[in-house]
Amino acid sequence: MTQTVTLLGLESSCDDTAAAVVRHIPGETPNILSSVVAGQTQLHADFGGVVPEIAARAHTEKLDHCVEEALIQANVHLSDLDGIAVTAGPGLIGGVVAGVMCAKGLAAGSGLPLIGVNHLAGHALTPRLTDQTKFPYLMLLVSGGHCQFLVVKGADEFRRLGGTIDDAPGEAFDKTAKLLGLAQPGGPAVEAQAKLGDPESFRFPRPLLDRPGCDMSFSGLKTALLRERDRLVAEHGGLRQQDRSDLCAGFQAAVRDVLAEKSRRALVEYLALNPTNPTLAVAGGVAANFEIRGKLETICADSGAAFLAPPLALCTDNAAMIAWAGIEAFRDGHRDDMSLQARPRWPLDNQAPAMLGSGKKGAKA
Ligand code: KG4
Ligand code: ZN
Repeated sequence: MTQTVTLLGLESSCDDTAAAVVRHIPGETPNILSSVVAGQTQLHADFGGVVPEIAARAHTEKLDHCVEEALIQANVHLSDLDGIAVTAGPGLIGGVVAGVMCAKGLAAGSGLPLIGVNHLAGHALTPRLTDQTKFPYLMLLVSGGHCQFLVVKGADEFRRLGGTIDDAPGEAFDKTAKLLGLAQPGGPAVEAQAKLGDPESFRFPRPLLDRPGCDMSFSGLKTALLRERDRLVAEHGGLRQQDRSDLCAGFQAAVRDVLAEKSRRALVEYLALNPTNPTLAVAGGVAANFEIRGKLETICADSGAAFLAPPLALCTDNAAMIAWAGIEAFRDGHRDDMSLQARPRWPLDNQAPAMLGSGKKGAKA
């Protein structure tokens, strides 16, 4: 590893259009020269979820501007780069196609190599960008679109220990907020309400804890909450403020307990094979939740593992993680050409059984 590598990264697999420039000088900490993210929350606000067609159109409109801005902020020209990395899946296919086409155009015009990156690998390799974490480590990816435990053994070597069989936790937070008339994205709104509530007032189920392994389920929680809400509305003629807060607190406690217990089990499985310097790293928007993060920290401390949460801007969707995953792949000799395909599904672990379903933010893996 002798060569300095500077890549432009593009991300458009869900509802954030992003471009970033990352440079890595061997032996030094990777340098994020720029990271531009244009969100689409407002565009989807009226629909209670991401509308794929609206997302794809917005990506097409914004990608060029994000690229231009990322190059300006990084103070580099295309000729200063070693390649273009782009999310080639998994995700909402219209957005992924928009990103791949933009990257192909840039690569064809500049003569630079093209590197297709798996979005999940971008999240999973972020601890190496932020903290130079050494392989192997355990990753919990917990966002609005994804929820899975991954053993990260190498830049292109992952083992999935388990994941959600239906909704992702962020999706459940968003649906809960919608059911209770709170703002989107639901996670921060539900967390704020939960602070005012009593988690013991409503005892929601902890799905799949009675089954061995690390698989999770969150869709039943939302149904249980809907039933409680309807009962309260029928009883009181509306939802009282304290009930709303108690429902949020009860829901958040249930998600927290499921993630904590499944993380404990994932750590046991991980430690049996990798007992030296164990680390559990998290990524994804749900990792911003104070209650959940705190419980995960406790689980790690009890298991003798380090807990690592990258800064939030790099936990949520961004293009710096794509540029970084691209740098790792580039160093391993990976190059793509104009035949690079956008993929709605692209599991990191081909040996693991297929994840079920497709959430509001695209295929699960
Ligand atoms: O990683 P992310 O920005 O985007 C993707 O899902 O790809 O995660 C966004 C998700 C949303 O569902 C949002 O409600 C959730 O993360 N989220 C939270 C919190 N902040 C964001 N969930 C729980 N508590 C939070 N504080
Ligand atoms: Zn993501």
